[in-house]
Amino acid sequence: MPAASRPDRTTARGSTFGGSEYEHRSQPDAGPPQPVTKAARSPRDGPTLWVVSLDDLAGEPICIQVLNAEERRRTHRFHSRRLARRYTAGRAALRMLLGAALDLAPQAVPLETGPLGKPQLACRASISFNLAHCDETAVIGLTAGDEIGVDIESSIHVHDPCRVAARFFAPSETAILAALAPDLATTAFLRCWTVKEAVLKALGVGLSLSLDAVVVDADPRVPLRLRRVPPPGRPLDWTLDAPLVPDRRLAVAVAIAAPEAPTTSVRTFDLEAFAVTRSSRRRPLARAR
Ligand SMILES: CC(C)(COP(=O)(O)OP(=O)(O)OC[C@H]1O[C@@H](n2cnc3c(N)ncnc32)[C@H](O)[C@@H]1OP(=O)(O)O)[C@@H](O)C(=O)NCCC(=O)NCCS
Repeated sequence: MPAASRPDRTTARGSTFGGSEYEHRSQPDAGPPQPVTKAARSPRDGPTLWVVSLDDLAGEPICIQVLNAEERRRTHRFHSRRLARRYTAGRAALRMLLGAALDLAPQAVPLETGPLGKPQLACRASISFNLAHCDETAVIGLTAGDEIGVDIESSIHVHDPCRVAARFFAPSETAILAALAPDLATTAFLRCWTVKEAVLKALGVGLSLSLDAVVVDADPRVPLRLRRVPPPGRPLDWTLDAPLVPDRRLAVAVAIAAPEAPTTSVRTFDLEAFAVTRSSRRRPLARAR
């Protein structure tokens, strides 16, 4: 893919696409992998977006162990082994991160499913989270309190952004995209789609509502702001972010139903290192209550 068509710098919260820093623990200077208990920030430190590589296979046995019965049943419903493995890895990473934040063993995290499919905690906790995946990468957003939604899409799946926008976006967004140069239109399309879906996921409704129920600033050169959110009358002062992740073909969005949440910090979660640490030390990640 030509570099110019990658989701590059777009404005978000007045900064640029990717204004957030990220750590990649496979970098030579990043030091030895740490157990997630040490690596995880408290959600109270601000929103964090964890990037998870779902095709790291070494941790699979540990990942399966931390799933609950319903999650294990779901692994049998995928059409391919690869999709089942990716689901397992994503759910396990979610449980590991929530477990670290709640001081619970990953398998003890009380995850349940909301009416429209949104995973939620069956206990009182001032943590919000959401997960999205695209091919071999998942992102998990964690924050304190206010509802969070995340989405991830790859530019390699975008072929005719203006045509797709005309079908799914609001007329104001479609018109802006149509006036952009092709490379910028792809960037704009990805930012627009991911932010709209992240907002709908924060609301817990997902795509049971159409994407044009949410309207944002579609021009990637202007700060990202919400122009419409359901239901009518709901405040528009959400925090929207489009942080940069290590794979620049991926566009990611984070939506938090609160004004001026701190900038999202982006970090890589090393599932394999977690599993190796855990199995070699034979020590639980965190105490089960
Ligand atoms: C949420 C939704 C938009 C996700 O679509 P997607 O682009 O295929 O997938 P993403 O990678 O963005 O997100 C998937 C994750 O979102 C989360 N999720 C599922 N439903 C959700 C919802 N209603 N709100 C927020 N998050 C949701 C889950 O963690 C899911 O990952 P998992 O299945 O591995 O647990 C889509 O599933 C949807 O519209 N669901 C709601 C309406 C619906 O049809 N519900 C039927 C099931 S009850």
